Formats: sequence, structure tokens, C-alpha cells
Amino acid sequence: MADLDDIRDGKNFGQGTPVANQQFYLKGCDNIGWGTKDRMARIFRPDTGKSVMLAFDHGFLMGPTSGLERIDLNIVPLAPYADCLMGTRGVIRACIPPGFNKPICLRADCGSTILTEMNHNVILDIEDAIRLNASAVAVMVEAGAAATEAKTIANLYKMVDFGQRYGIPVMGVTAVGKDMVRDARYFSLASRMCAENGANIVKTYYCENFSQVTASCPVPIVIAGGKKLPEIEALQLAYNAINDGASGVDMGRNVSQSDAPAAMIQAISGVVHDGLTPEEGLEKFNDLK
Ligand code: 5RP
Repeated sequence: MADLDDIRDGKNFGQGTPVANQQFYLKGCDNIGWGTKDRMARIFRPDTGKSVMLAFDHGFLMGPTSGLERIDLNIVPLAPYADCLMGTRGVIRACIPPGFNKPICLRADCGSTILTEMNHNVILDIEDAIRLNASAVAVMVEAGAAATEAKTIANLYKMVDFGQRYGIPVMGVTAVGKDMVRDARYFSLASRMCAENGANIVKTYYCENFSQVTASCPVPIVIAGGKKLPEIEALQLAYNAINDGASGVDMGRNVSQSDAPAAMIQAISGVVHDGLTPEEGLEKFNDLK
């Protein structure tokens, strides 16, 4: 029985103060459920609306390439500075301490190392995402690839159905192939395909006229880092993306292959969250390295 000792009647009911209607701070999210919003709010900082995601999922296709040789040594020390960790279930379980309490964006499709091709029609069991307490799941979409576009969209579609069932946001990752033109027309199409098929977050690449890509995508976009650039160029990339409407970055090699990865992720965070210019970001990087 509840403790009935000294029960005090409520007095202050705020009559005359209407209950405030709350609008969610990320675009395209107003009509999604509470659990999905809560997970989105774990990924995108509520004070800035932005996210610095650390991507180390590429080992599933590329193996222990530079920066990923030892997740415990290369990635774990960076985790405190990331807003979200993007990895595969094997590496998350084996190498990431659960006590970090960092949101996970879980890679939910799989690939083969041959030509780094996606292994279509194989996606994660959503129950495993729940077991891992994933804050989001990510699948790749190969827009415009004749042989594989439909299969990757089917993967996304299935994952969105699962994600909707349990309130787990889905990230659509737009692929870039050798034959694909990296321009705003292509990335707008690919991003929009992800969003229209139900993705709550889109990961795509920065390009000229990027504001067209973000403007025409109804959900938050984060940019991929791509191949390692000199630090100032990677900071410029992050700066340009945020200025052109991105809600964050999801960078891998530009962090983990830096000479000072911990300094680099903090400098990127300064650009994304604190409005540092690339030059100020570089100063921060140099101070911390
Ligand atoms: C590709 C991905 C990976 O996360 C990405 O390739 C790794 O990040 P980066 O390109 O910044 O090194 O989304 O499926």
C-alpha cells in the first residue's frame, strides 16, 4: 500500500495558464511518435539541433583499414566527444563499453568485401537493434544503380516498417558509386528518395549548391566525411555543410585518420555546435593536439 501519511492536497494548478503546445526542434519530426523523438533528441543535441556522429562502420566492408585497426585504441577514446556512435552490431558489442551511455546509430544492412558491394535483402533483425538499445538504424540506398537501387530501397522500406513499430529512427545512407555524378541534382534525388521512403535522417555527401539538397529534403541531413582531407579542409567541409542547412556531420576517416583524432573531433564539434569558423576550428585543433 502507498504511504498515506501526510497527504497534502494540490494547490497550484496554474489555472489561466494554457498548456503549451510543444513543437519539436528537428524538421520533419512533428508527426512522429514520442519514442522516435526521444531517440532523435539523443542524437541531435537539443541545445543546438545538431549532431557530430562518429562513423566507424566501414570496417564491415573494408576491414581494419587506417584508423580502424583497433576499435578499442582508435575509436573508444574519441567516443566521449561524439554525440552519436555509428557502428555495426559486432563491433558495438565487442568493443564499445555500454557504460558510455552514448546513442548508437546501428548499421542495419550488410555488405560483401568483393568490390565493397552491399549484400542486398539482408537486414538486421529489429529485435537486435532493440537489444542494443539503438537510437537509430542505418541502411544504404544506391540511387540510380540499375542493378541494386530497387533492392536497397526495399531494405530501407522494411527497416522503416520495423522502426515505426518500435519507435526507432531510420537513417538512409546515400551511396556514391564510381559512375555516379556527385552533384546537387543527384544528392537531392538520392536524399529525397530516402526521405520519401520513410527515413527520419539522411546521410549524404556535401557538394556544390548543397543548400538545394538540404532545402528539398524534409528530414535532417548529416554529411559523410569521405576520404581523409587536410584538417582545415575537413573543418571547412563541416562549416559549409552546416551553413548550407545540414543538421550535422557523420564523419569517419577525417577523424580517425587525423594525426590527432581527439583534437579533430573536438574541433569539428566546435564548428558544428559552437559556430567556429574553419580557421577557429583549426586553432582549436592545434591547441588540443
Ligand atoms: C558508408 C558510410 C560510412 O559510415 C562512411 O563511409 C564512413 O565515414 P567516412 O566516409 O567519413 O570515412 O556511411 O556506408
